[in-house]
Order: sequence, then structure tokens, then C-alpha cells
Amino acid sequence: MPCMIQIGKLTIDAPFFQAGLAGYSDTAMRMVARKHGCPMCVTEAMLDQFLINGGKGLKAAEIDPEDHLITGQLMGSHPDDIAQGCKILVGLGYDIIDVNLACPVKKIRKKARGGHLLQEPDAAIDILKSARQAVGDDVPCTVKLRRATDETPESAANFYRIFQAVIDLGYAGAVVHGRSVDQKYNGPSRWSFLKELVDQYGQTPNFIIGGSGDIWEAQDIFRMIQQTGVDIVSVARGCIGNPWIFQQARALMANPNADSAQLAPTLDQQRHVLLEHFGLSQKLHGERMASMMMRKFGIKFSAHHPTPESVRLAFIAVKSLNDWQNVLENFYVSTSSLPVSS
Ligand SMILES: Cc1cc2nc3c(=O)[nH]c(=O)nc-3n(C[C@H](O)[C@H](O)[C@H](O)COP(=O)(O)O)c2cc1C
Repeated sequence: MPCMIQIGKLTIDAPFFQAGLAGYSDTAMRMVARKHGCPMCVTEAMLDQFLINGGKGLKAAEIDPEDHLITGQLMGSHPDDIAQGCKILVGLGYDIIDVNLACPVKKIRKKARGGHLLQEPDAAIDILKSARQAVGDDVPCTVKLRRATDETPESAANFYRIFQAVIDLGYAGAVVHGRSVDQKYNGPSRWSFLKELVDQYGQTPNFIIGGSGDIWEAQDIFRMIQQTGVDIVSVARGCIGNPWIFQQARALMANPNADSAQLAPTLDQQRHVLLEHFGLSQKLHGERMASMMMRKFGIKFSAHHPTPESVRLAFIAVKSLNDWQNVLENFYVSTSSLPVSS
């Protein structure tokens, strides 16, 4: 199934991408995803003020030359700051700029950012306008939203007002998470809402609609497209510790009847990725920090192992590269010895 998705002037060759995932989707996770067939990755939401203030926040936003196509996601509460933040991201070479109107985290909402803005449509539209003007026409702008703040009719009306403004302002697309802000990550993502949105706005020229929520395995990507008609699917929690989901999705694009059991990663493939991901993380964060960060990935990776619980416990105890390698020696017996990439 050949597939070309147009995002502004950019084209990607598969109808899925790796979502922004705060605390996870750094350069290391993105590079591993790309090697497994992911055509586009989103950064975690970056605060405009962190970029403007320079220092660590700005340093963390720098992109590896091989880390493309990449969407830089920005979050803020003041139109001037968001404009400055957008210009910084464009200057750093981001391919797409995405405005976050979705984050449900309390401390973000309290500062009138992220998902909070869905209940303040005027403020949200000011932010969107400012971002779009700052970015200009050479780099596509997109937005990430949730379907509503809560279940009230006012909240639904706010969503549609903001969504219409996104289109009118010339955004190249929107990704909608089918949970409300109040829902956080509880309960199902409402795919029927995504379908209604596509029914209403799916024919808008030069505008794509993406869907997010409850993508756990490769088949879910195509199920969401089939059930809702979205152009593109955001893969989020389903790709933490599971870059193979992208390879499997590509296999399903080539053959929709491919046997998913045959697409499961072998122990050797798991070992290879575990070493590679740690190496990339170490290069980025140093050994101590990488050891801490990789524990939470290890917990997710362990789900692919025949004895997940003992592997999970072993990963939780990791404090160094040596510990990580010991887990691999003990649980991921390999026929080849693979060096850690650095
Ligand atoms: C730990 C975590 C961090 C997240 N960080 C971001 C983020 O920085 N930007 C963003 O747009 N979405 C973020 N999300 C939301 C996901 O991209 C996605 O919309 C959500 O998890 C629903 O998809 P899923 O049910 O398939 O996981 C985050 C979700 C989780 C669980």
C-alpha cells in the first residue's frame, strides 16, 4: 500500500509518526524509532520560556543532523513568547512547528498553558495566530489538541471554535487526542469523535487530521485509519520500549495480512536495540543519567521477553552501563557480540 502524506510542503511515506512523549522522546528514542521505519518524530513539549532563556533548555532543543523529519513542539501562554520560541525552533532547523494545546498536567495547566488553553478559546487563538505569523510559510505549522476540556457543551463549542481558527490561520494539520483534558490518560480515547471531525473537516484543502489515543500495536494504526478516516496516526505509549511497532506497521502496509506473531522481535533483535538505545542515551545524557532514564525504558522493553517479570526487576536495579550489560548477558543470550554505539 504506497502512501504519501503531505504536511505543508513536506511529504512522508507512511501514515504514522512517533508522538511527543515528555521524559521519553529524546534524540535517543527518536533515532531508534527512525531505524525501525518511523518517518517522523515529535519532540516532547518545550516551554517557550526555556528556549528564550537559553542555557540548558535551548541546548536540549538542538537537533542531531540525522534526526529528521522532526517536529518541534512548543507550549506557552503568551503570544509574544510563543512567537520568539517558534523563531528559535525554526532557526535550529526544525522541519515542522507544533503548538501544544493538549497537555493535562496540573502544573502546566495552572500556568495557562497546554490543555488549559482549550477552555480559553480567545487566548488559544491568539497563541495560534502568533505562532503561525512567527513561523511564516516556509515551515509547516501544526497543532496538538484534546477533544475537549470536559463533557460540557461549552467545552465542545470551544474546541470547534479553536479548530476552525486552526484551519483559517493556514495550519497544515492538527492531531487530536480523543480524550478530554479532564480524562488525562484514563478511559478510552473516543475514536467516534475523530470520525465526526473527519466527516466535518476531512475535505479541507492542504490540511491533514491526525488521531491519537489507544495505539498499542501496529494493527491499531490501520484500525484507527479505517474506523475514523484520519490521515495520520500518532503512536505514543505503544512505542515506548517497542520501536518494532514501526517496522511492523511498514510490514502491514506492504501486506495487510502479514502474521503479527512472525513480526515479534527476536531476543537478538531486542538485545541489539537495548544496547543501541543505551549507547545513544549515554552519549546524550552521560552514563549516570542514562542509567536512570533507561530503567523506565527497560521496564517497557521487558514486556517482549519470555520472562518479563524477572527482566523488569533486573532493569529497575540498573545504575550503570555495566549493570545494563549484565542484564543483557543474563537474559538476552546472543549469538553475536554487539558493541555499544557511542
Ligand atoms: C508520559 C507521557 C508524556 C507525554 N508527553 C507529551 C508531549 O510532550 N507532547 C504531546 O503532544 N503529547 C504528549 N503525551 C500524549 C501522547 O502523545 C498521546 O497523545 C497520548 O499518550 C495518547 O495516546 P496513547 O493512548 O496511544 O498513548 C504524553 C503522554 C504520556 C503518557
